[in-house]
Amino acid sequence: MKKFTAILLILVMMFSLSACGAKADEGSSDALPTIGVTIYKYDDNFMSFVRRAIETKAEGKATLEMNDSQNSQATQNDQVDTMISKGAKALAINLVDPQAASAIIEKAKKADLPVIFFNKEPETSVLASYDKAWYVGTASAEAGVIQGELIANAWKANPEWDRNGDGVMSYVLLKGEPGHPDAEARTKYSVETIVEAGIQVEELELQTGMWDSVKGKELMDAWIAKHGDAIEMVICNNDGMALGAVQSLNASGYFDDGKFMPVVGVDAIPDVLEQIKAGKMVGTVLNDAKNQGGATFDLALNVANGKDPLDGTEWTLDEGKAVRVPYVAVTIDNIEFAEEAYK
Ligand code: BGC
Repeated sequence: MKKFTAILLILVMMFSLSACGAKADEGSSDALPTIGVTIYKYDDNFMSFVRRAIETKAEGKATLEMNDSQNSQATQNDQVDTMISKGAKALAINLVDPQAASAIIEKAKKADLPVIFFNKEPETSVLASYDKAWYVGTASAEAGVIQGELIANAWKANPEWDRNGDGVMSYVLLKGEPGHPDAEARTKYSVETIVEAGIQVEELELQTGMWDSVKGKELMDAWIAKHGDAIEMVICNNDGMALGAVQSLNASGYFDDGKFMPVVGVDAIPDVLEQIKAGKMVGTVLNDAKNQGGATFDLALNVANGKDPLDGTEWTLDEGKAVRVPYVAVTIDNIEFAEEAYK
């Protein structure tokens, strides 16, 4: 009898264990596809919002292998190899060096894996070289045009900004990473648009602050020391550098006792929206992190599941296989709109 009870007990235990196992499997992430993601460096203000958008959208739908490429293309290449060997079903790549897209495509091709590039746009011909490669980002030039229009309108509405009254806008420009399509296009089109609006300009300084607020502050410190009040406009390729410029201007006594300097950025990150509200920045251009991260994930999930990249989504691809999320001008007048976009 004792023996019988013992056997029964063992059988009951075995049954309940296997039932538990089945339950665990159903709910476990094993059932979800793995998507390998790289961010060119976690230490980038704007990209931290894109990353968050990807992570939020992935909840319950995919397992993410998220990598910080630490601003090193060699590191990123290794990470891609590891993700492939670990069985990722799709790759979502924020390149360190936009020129490295072909090397990543070679790896993806060999493993027959689809790849979604985002934020740093590969050359069109490189993207076209692999039928399983797509891009999610923006139309880089658009931010420059919108920023230029915003600056031209504000300049015309505030004649006192022309401090020396010579009818010329003397500007300094903090450029993003050279060779980055966003940095090149924003630099070109912002100034061109101001000129097209009939405003004469003089470039006092143009240097790269590498998208970074510390570098932006250092450059602005040096420019204030050199040019002082001769600077009449601070144009920044992104908000990170704009924040650095504002910090520098603050320390030099601007935004106090009626002393003002117009600063304009791109991204509309929450810290900059605060500066606009405080009257320390004129405006920015919304670079929609939530939708860029969202679209990157939607496409990556679809292709990881063997579906068409746009299946069940509202996104559209242009002739260059790119989803382009629009930019929007942001000033104090529509600040709530930008706040919503970053929630
Ligand atoms: C953003 C920058 C960011 C860069 C990273 C740009 O689109 O405006 O803030 O540093 O992307 O690649």
